[in-house]
Amino acid sequence: MALYLPDTYECNGESFRVYITKAQLDQRIAELGELINTEYAGKRPILVGILNGSFIFLADLMRHVTIPCEVDFYKLSSYGDEKVSSGKVTERKELDADIEGRHVIVIEDIIDTGLSMDYLLKRIKDQGPASVRVMTLLHKPDATKYDVQIDHVGFEIPTLFVLGYGLDYGQEGRNLAQIYVINSHAD
Ligand code: PRP
Repeated sequence: MALYLPDTYECNGESFRVYITKAQLDQRIAELGELINTEYAGKRPILVGILNGSFIFLADLMRHVTIPCEVDFYKLSSYGDEKVSSGKVTERKELDADIEGRHVIVIEDIIDTGLSMDYLLKRIKDQGPASVRVMTLLHKPDATKYDVQIDHVGFEIPTLFVLGYGLDYGQEGRNLAQIYVINSHAD
């Protein structure tokens, strides 16, 4: 069964077109995995995925990591079912792992305003990790209002509404195997 790779996608009354292809994602994610192998050689990092959006990126990324590593998850929500952040982070699941003294790599699908990462880095650093780095597949630098630490970015993108590859609109579209951009720029 082939991956879900339509040329266009309709969702909640909006139309979307391909923005970052599967081939581009595959190549960049392999590079990011190799970065982890190099930066953490001799260590045993814990990859902390931020649910829901990061689950597909994390799954693909982790399969390029060839050093010993672990995984755990936070679940946050700031967008609800809207295209614009509610401005308030809701924590829905804490980490299970004890990260004191551990090398933590926070894995995000997208940093938009930076609100979620600002909140999360404070929570993580309070737990006394040996180190914290942030890897995000997408970053919208023009939209970022919080001065957050970002160590590795897959793709910098303009302030456009994107979905697919874990990112949703009203909870739909996460199953698309590449990244799509909205056709209407009225937002
Ligand atoms: C999205 C995304 C990031 C956050 C980025 O999550 O996965 O966690 O928004 O936006 P920000 O930089 O403005 O905080 P969302 O709250 O939509 O939840 P989801 O991951 O379950 O889709």
